[in-house]
Amino acid sequence: MKRIGVIGLGQRIAHVLAAMEESGWSLRVAGHVDPSPVGLPILAEAGIDPGRAYADPQSLLADGPFDLVMIGSPNHLHLAHLEAALDAGYPVFAEKPIVRTPKESFALARRLARAGGPPLFIGLVMRSMPLVREVIARVDAGELGELISMDATEHLHPEHGAYLARNWRRKAEWGGSFMLDKVCHDFDIFGRLVGARPARVASFGGRRIFHPGAADRPRHYEDGSPAYALRDAGWMAANDPFHSDMDLFDHQTALVHYENGVALSFHANSHVNLQERRWYLAGSHGTLVADLVRNRMLFRPTLDRRRPERLDFATRTADLHNGADQAMAADLLAALDDASRFPVTPWDSLEAGLTVMAIDEAALTGEVVDCTPIWRGLDEARGAEA
Ligand SMILES: NC(=O)c1ccc[n+]([C@@H]2O[C@H](COP(=O)([O-])OP(=O)(O)OC[C@H]3O[C@@H](n4cnc5c(N)ncnc54)[C@H](O)[C@@H]3O)[C@@H](O)[C@H]2O)c1
Repeated sequence: MKRIGVIGLGQRIAHVLAAMEESGWSLRVAGHVDPSPVGLPILAEAGIDPGRAYADPQSLLADGPFDLVMIGSPNHLHLAHLEAALDAGYPVFAEKPIVRTPKESFALARRLARAGGPPLFIGLVMRSMPLVREVIARVDAGELGELISMDATEHLHPEHGAYLARNWRRKAEWGGSFMLDKVCHDFDIFGRLVGARPARVASFGGRRIFHPGAADRPRHYEDGSPAYALRDAGWMAANDPFHSDMDLFDHQTALVHYENGVALSFHANSHVNLQERRWYLAGSHGTLVADLVRNRMLFRPTLDRRRPERLDFATRTADLHNGADQAMAADLLAALDDASRFPVTPWDSLEAGLTVMAIDEAALTGEVVDCTPIWRGLDEARGAEA
């Protein structure tokens, strides 16, 4: 039985723990640190005891040994919680984004480059999705030929957007940014597919949906049901998505030019009624569309007039993770037991985060950002301790 300690027992870690149980883990949560654990009802529904409540990470970690320490706190606390858990020496699972700023990324890179630390697994859960694994395998096998260009979207329904505008994710000091919290997953996969780092990025965005000037918009759907009120917004929540003190974007676009010439455009909006998360990959020899909402893939070689190949993946779930949580739980167990490698490394996670941070810098400055200094900073931090 695996003995687990939790720092930040929110909705996400509770869902991951439930998925771990579902996928065959034998586990016991020995204790947790959280001033007001939002995830307790989810754990209760899964029949998992939250263990003893500790006042701070140090007292929890002093009560080891743990087979796994899980970190699910808001993003601004990740670095401090990671450093404490890594110092304690137990294997760590931490939610994405791994950290929130370039400065934190370089500090963590220096810490990770030191020899002899425990394994660190980051919850970039899309890496474990069967659909995403298939896309990666097709690209790696050369079925698309050379990757030329891509476009991608993530469009959220109004309740999800309103949740982001009320939850701690609404403020840069806690969440980082709209894109960092939501789509570091996608940029991790794009980096993996392209096989190169971004060279230059441009981006535009704004807060034109959830702001006081739009507060007199209708608050009901056409059938009378209330809009914008899906779930408890938890730690540091604001009451009203239109009147909150949000200082982040609610929609954003980005252009990325990778070092090997691949071009990408990205579009995200948090208030749509035709939900979409879709990647369109155009290669020299084939075209692939991954529809992550419908859990479906289309592929056709470029010079082929027959019907496209269509793969429908069986699982579709309301959280849109479509079975990925259970798959990640299985990957995590296999990695802990040394049966196989976890599909994503902390270094991949740092690169995905830094890519989105460069995009945000471009949006805030209105300039095209040259990414060279960012990668130099990361490589120097890694090399300084290696
Ligand atoms: N991989 C995914 O798909 C995915 C999905 C959702 C969230 N996440 C990530 O998981 C993390 C948590 O998000 P969430 O949706 O569960 O948020 P949440 O608001 O539900 O949970 C955050 C928890 O952290 C607790 N907390 C606040 N201050 C703390 C402190 N000082 N020490 C310990 N705990 C503290 C809060 O009380 C709350 O219970 C974030 O990093 C988020 O980006 C990942």
